[in-house]
Amino acid sequence: MKKILVLLLFLPVLSIFAQVDLRNFDVTKFTGDITLVSLQRFLQTDEYVSVEGVVFRITANKKFLTRAEIKSELLTEDRFVGLLALTIDELSSYNGKDKIGLVAVRGVIYDVSNSSRWRNGIHQNRHNAGEELTYDILKLSPHGQKMLERVKPFGVLVFTPDQLARFDGKGKNKAYVSAFGVVYDMSQSKTLKDGSHFGYPAGNELTFEIRQMPGHEAMLSRIYPIGLLVFDEKSLARFDGKSMKVVSKNLELYKSFIKVGNIVYDVTQSSWQEKLNLGPDAQSGRDYTSQFECESQGSCSHDHADIKVLEGFAKVGFGIL
Ligand code: HEM
Ligand code: HEM
Repeated sequence: MKKILVLLLFLPVLSIFAQVDLRNFDVTKFTGDITLVSLQRFLQTDEYVSVEGVVFRITANKKFLTRAEIKSELLTEDRFVGLLALTIDELSSYNGKDKIGLVAVRGVIYDVSNSSRWRNGIHQNRHNAGEELTYDILKLSPHGQKMLERVKPFGVLVFTPDQLARFDGKGKNKAYVSAFGVVYDMSQSKTLKDGSHFGYPAGNELTFEIRQMPGHEAMLSRIYPIGLLVFDEKSLARFDGKSMKVVSKNLELYKSFIKVGNIVYDVTQSSWQEKLNLGPDAQSGRDYTSQFECESQGSCSHDHADIKVLEGFAKVGFGIL
């Protein structure tokens, strides 16, 4: 009995500590149930610390801590905030010269600044800190991913739609695409011609398009997941059903996205207004969290939508704090 009680007491601590470990993070399985904390917000908030990329609300004299530097008992569920998220542009400034050196592999950013093999942010004369190196470590290095056990996680890698657009596969640019909220590196695909895959240009969010081809989603396992797609109010507003055209030869259709909680959904060509109990004039490109809020608080006085309706829409990205 005593044993069970002790176990129960420690369960919340253990679960947060074990569950939210960036070493086990699989970017393709991220559901949006954990908050992404932008680097900017993190640095502005005095009481936030990052323990190997996991943000907690704790007052300490250091912002960045390793797991060895903090008592695990302090890392309780009520102090847990989310995951530290760096954009691809922020990552590139951590090149090991003026700042510490960071590298990204499969959506996880690692700190290589304590490694003698990465002095001044340069590795084996050919790899630089500040870069996304998934393909390089998996396919070009002699050692593969296992060397990452020697360095500490620092955060997760995210892209805004504008940043994604720069990776259009033209000239020397890498070819990145996004589907279901995950950004993939498609640069190595033999199907690409001048940055396009059968007319679908890299640099784009292509969830709606790939769903038009049943079964084709499985193809995503052949390319490299490298990060998450994140939206702020402004980038979400562009997906208002009038501005962003679906890539298609036959359809004259524009994408509609909405945000609920931390998740952005594609509601293009669906009767989403009706499902959310909104009038037909409701606009996409906006945050509709309030349509569901009383559901989560159990205090509904009027006709709110059932949160389950969201399961019918594809996830296309995430919000960021
Ligand atoms: C052609 C490419 C590469 C070569 C030839 C190479 C070679 C090496 C060698 C010889 C070591 C030392 C192994 C040892 O101590 O047993 C090493 C360590 C390491 N490499 Fe690479 N590497 C390459 C690419 C990469 C890439 C792309 C990454 C990206 C993240 C990476 C991350 C690391 C890390 C984290 C270590 C451990 C450093 C430490 O022990 O402090 N390597 N690499
Ligand atoms: C008319 C539309 C499309 C056609 C005709 C098409 C056709 C193909 C073909 C023929 C392959 C190669 C299959 C093989 O090697 O066995 C392929 C692979 C692939 N497709 Fe598509 N595709 C289309 C749309 C899309 C869209 C919208 C995406 C969204 C991202 C996508 C993502 C992929 C990926 C990731 C692969 C694997 C690439 C590789 O193995 O190098 N496709 N597609």
